[in-house]
Amino acid sequence: MKSDMKIVIIGAGVAGLSIGWRLRQAGAEVTILERAQPASGATWASAGMIALAAELETSPPVEVDFARQSNALWPGFAREIEEESGQAVGYERSGALLLSDDAVAMAGRAAADTDLTFLTAEEVRARWPMLSGEYSGGLWARHEAHVDNRALGRALAIAFLKAGGVLKPAEAAVNLEYRGRRITGVLTPFTRYHGNAVLLAAGAWSGQVVQLPVTPVKGEMIALTPPPDAEFDFVGPVVWGQGVYLVPRGGRLLVGATVEEVGFDTSLSDGAVRHLRQKAEAVIPGLARWRLDEHWAGLRPGTPDGLPLLGPSHEQGLFIASGQYRNGILFAPAIAQLMADMIRGRAEPIDAFDPRRFPGAKP
Ligand code: GLY
Repeated sequence: MKSDMKIVIIGAGVAGLSIGWRLRQAGAEVTILERAQPASGATWASAGMIALAAELETSPPVEVDFARQSNALWPGFAREIEEESGQAVGYERSGALLLSDDAVAMAGRAAADTDLTFLTAEEVRARWPMLSGEYSGGLWARHEAHVDNRALGRALAIAFLKAGGVLKPAEAAVNLEYRGRRITGVLTPFTRYHGNAVLLAAGAWSGQVVQLPVTPVKGEMIALTPPPDAEFDFVGPVVWGQGVYLVPRGGRLLVGATVEEVGFDTSLSDGAVRHLRQKAEAVIPGLARWRLDEHWAGLRPGTPDGLPLLGPSHEQGLFIASGQYRNGILFAPAIAQLMADMIRGRAEPIDAFDPRRFPGAKP
């Protein structure tokens, strides 16, 4: 059956793939253009955290509400991707533990938020003896989770293809095609793709396609593996220390992440490894014996106000789903639903996330 709705998406990261999948499920013809390989940017480089308490402590209520909605959608989203793709995505509602020296502030946050419980340092160590570093206590966020982001990226691409979507890897958008003032398609080095709507979901590269206030924010991460005679095997929750997070994943411990604005530079530095190891060992001293297994970097899509860009642009026919900054995995199911509904004319943008809050390109 031929659909009367044709959508071209620029970017096959978690946002582009999941929005494309939802649109395809709704009967649209969807083509995703990807400059590199599917899910090989921030989706691949992240730690796959579905983290609210640590990432959104200073966020406005509108972003916290959006994150809560998305967190609630995650179990069903993960199940559906697994069913459709036949691939596990490793979603685990492991909880998260935020360690801090400020017991008063932690107790205050726990009193104001029923999702958080204050644990003294003794209570933390009784449950997780390897957390023998220096801190006054922890906030236990029992509803938090993480997903194997690399498996998720592969599974989403398979789910999208199985649903009948078209995926064009190694095919960059080089320009947009206009009819009058309306965008009607995308030009690549090879051909042109026409659509009733174009969605730009190119992560940190979004501002390279049209003028958008999206800045790449580099993050370096490492993965540690235990020595053969390790005293402990960490399979607990996501743990946040001072300027560091630790995510158990498949026998390894992911340690992240640096935050740097250096353009599109993704070079790796020994200094970042030393910094991350030192921060991790301040929380779990026993990690000093763990071996460096992998070191990588990715680019987060940052915006001037720290809020995402979700909705129509100043250009007719062009939608944006970008600027997720540190929260691309957390927001994925809610963005997929909101953007698929919006592109189909069934939802309005959320004002605080509307890309048109920033000025457009000068004519
Ligand atoms: N959300 C984790 C990070 O951006 O480093």
